Amino acid sequence: MARAFNFCAGPAVLPLEVLQQAQAELVDYQGTGMSIMEMSHRGKHYEAVHNEAMANIRTLMNLSDDYAVLFLQGGASMQFAMVPMNFLPTGATADYVNAGSWGSAAVKQARLLGNINIAADCEKDIPTRVPEAAELKHTPGAAYLHLTSNETISGAQWQQFPKTDVPLICDMSSDILSRPLDYRQFAMVYAGAQKNLGPSGVTLVVVRKDLAAKAAKTIPAMLRYQTHIENDSLYNTPPCFSIYILALTTRWLKNFGVDNMFRRNRDKAQMLYDIIDASGYYRGTAKKECRSDMNITFRLPTSELEDHFCAEAAKAGLSQLKGHRSVGGVRASIYNAFPVDGVQALVAFMQEFEKRNG
Ligand SMILES: Cc1ncc(COP(=O)(O)O)c(C=O)c1O
Repeated sequence: MARAFNFCAGPAVLPLEVLQQAQAELVDYQGTGMSIMEMSHRGKHYEAVHNEAMANIRTLMNLSDDYAVLFLQGGASMQFAMVPMNFLPTGATADYVNAGSWGSAAVKQARLLGNINIAADCEKDIPTRVPEAAELKHTPGAAYLHLTSNETISGAQWQQFPKTDVPLICDMSSDILSRPLDYRQFAMVYAGAQKNLGPSGVTLVVVRKDLAAKAAKTIPAMLRYQTHIENDSLYNTPPCFSIYILALTTRWLKNFGVDNMFRRNRDKAQMLYDIIDASGYYRGTAKKECRSDMNITFRLPTSELEDHFCAEAAKAGLSQLKGHRSVGGVRASIYNAFPVDGVQALVAFMQEFEKRNG
């Protein structure tokens, strides 16, 4: 079997053990004679999967009963609208940090729905970065403060989150459960599953129940968090297969441990940053203090060389290294499931490529 070293930013590589288990169970799930995709979402087999997925998230994030765990559809992009719909009352203001393309996408949707204050804007800064806590211009009594923990495209990541008296809401799509965090500092976090949690099609939302309960009753049912809390994320048919893979992936992560995963993620990222820092040929694009453990972004001397680098790498089994189409360059996305030997292979390839083309 030949598995590529897949550096895709998302949908991203899944643990091989998870894929193999899903394969083994695909056509006959636990002796039922059908796959998990083909049975009622209200039956006992699917119910067990659903409950395990929720319990795994609760354990991994160490959540108290004050928080609800929800599995929604519409991607993280739908949360860009649901957050202000639920938490930004008429006349109030919400603070947003714009530190990159995803922060900016969240701002755009929120602006359609209410008053927004940009607490800090460093989207266009080069090198790319997230702001210092002291730079933030808070609105007194803001409805909430929204930020993006890891800007997937630019490769800039918050190392510590700003302290605030207002509810802190965080888009964690590209670094959720990649490091130990105290989730009590957040009123809500959300993440499309397709990087660190499983396949696309399901979005994890962890939200404080008291906050969700206060949202206006005039919001359409599917777009209200309270609807999904009251129905255990079974208000309508959930994305059963995506949640099943999320259950297997979070089981795998529980066995590994988030602390161990964090150490492994740090080591993997450091291997790449070491070669970038030691080289005059590769140039990292993010400011050192906020560079990401998940998306390692760098440039070569010319865009022609970058194209050549990605094409040659693909031939060597290192696939999907091209930077996002909006910024170019090279991006190695190395989420939890990305193997250490894949990073070692990229390091060797980078050294060899520089020798031949430097
Ligand atoms: C940080 C971040 N937020 C939001 C999104 C959008 O997610 P989705 O495609 O699930 O809507 C992405 C996608 O890559 C992302 O990286």
